[in-house]
Amino acid sequence: MHQIKLADTIFYIGYNDRRTNLFENLWPIPFGVSYNSYLIVDEKITLVDTVERFFIDDFLEDLNELTGGREVDYLVINHMEPDHSAAIRAIKNRYPAITLVGNKKTFGLVENFYFEPEKTVVVGDGDRLNLGKTTLQFQTIPMVHWPETMVTFEESNKILFSGDAFGCFGTLDGGIFDDEINLDFYKEEAMRYFTNIVGKYCPHTQRALNKLASLDIKIIAPTHGPVWRSNLDWILHSYQKWSTYSYDQGVLIVYGSMYGHTQKMAEVIAHQLAVRGIKNIRIYDASKTHPSYIINDSFKYKGIIVGSAAYNNELLPTVGTLLREIEHMAPKNHYLGIFGNYSWSGGGVKNLMEFAQKINWELVYEPVEEKGTLKSENFGKCINLANAMADKLLH
Ligand code: FEO
Repeated sequence: MHQIKLADTIFYIGYNDRRTNLFENLWPIPFGVSYNSYLIVDEKITLVDTVERFFIDDFLEDLNELTGGREVDYLVINHMEPDHSAAIRAIKNRYPAITLVGNKKTFGLVENFYFEPEKTVVVGDGDRLNLGKTTLQFQTIPMVHWPETMVTFEESNKILFSGDAFGCFGTLDGGIFDDEINLDFYKEEAMRYFTNIVGKYCPHTQRALNKLASLDIKIIAPTHGPVWRSNLDWILHSYQKWSTYSYDQGVLIVYGSMYGHTQKMAEVIAHQLAVRGIKNIRIYDASKTHPSYIINDSFKYKGIIVGSAAYNNELLPTVGTLLREIEHMAPKNHYLGIFGNYSWSGGGVKNLMEFAQKINWELVYEPVEEKGTLKSENFGKCINLANAMADKLLH
């Protein structure tokens, strides 16, 4: 295998998954994902996190090569989600004397998922573990992404092994470090990774960022995607922006439409927003675009306008599914507009109003509800809705 070094004795061991369609069986990964593990070869050989189960055989072989057949002394478990912990049992079998390093919430999960651990070191915030020439320091960052999540800071080379934090969808197609690749592609996938996987936990991310601010970090080595060493400012600034619900001037319009009438309202609203000078406008059909991408844009733009046809007295189901996910993620501080089609029973706009009350965003204009084709009165109201949204955004 190629030896990929973060420092003299610190190695990247990662694998690219181009087969899985849905990460967590939920989120599309058309460009795949990498699972990154790291190895420190010191007096005490230490592995930081493991990899997905499909790669266990390769992982054990590569470990054996990098260690020169020596035993691995410690396994640091930053995060127990199985995309990183799946190889723990195989590692324990191969290195029976290994000591697992985690915090007080880690080992219950090890027992739940794999086995009752024997040799453990329990660490807390600021605790250190000396490996010989290198020393590791630990900080817990609960809910970024699970309750037990922590990061590990290698003090000599100032490398932060960050777990899911600062991770990214997309395989590493050659380059491993952020300065070896075209970052334009990865920037979008880093945001989608954050918004889809960690976005529910923005306040926790803020607490984590505050905690990490005291560390003099030179390299961020996450468990997915590129290793950050030349663009730390970009990824840290982006996490700050995304986790504080700081949006760009723009509007996300999403609709569910059966026969095109609700879609037509979306087009009228969007055009008027453009007339008013709003340039960032994205329209999605909720029945076509996966919520992953729509949720991502809900973290980009300050304005959100949602439309739905009535379907059996309810929202069109695809809109309902999307809104449940947005409620779950609960991004804050948006301006909201609502529109839809009554069809023969109503139910679309009525349920959008219930969503508006629960999500507690600022409704910029009265709900616009048409019956059948878009007629002049409601055409005018669509224009008014767009103008009200533009007034807020341009204020
Ligand atoms: Fe990549 Fe939360 O595991």
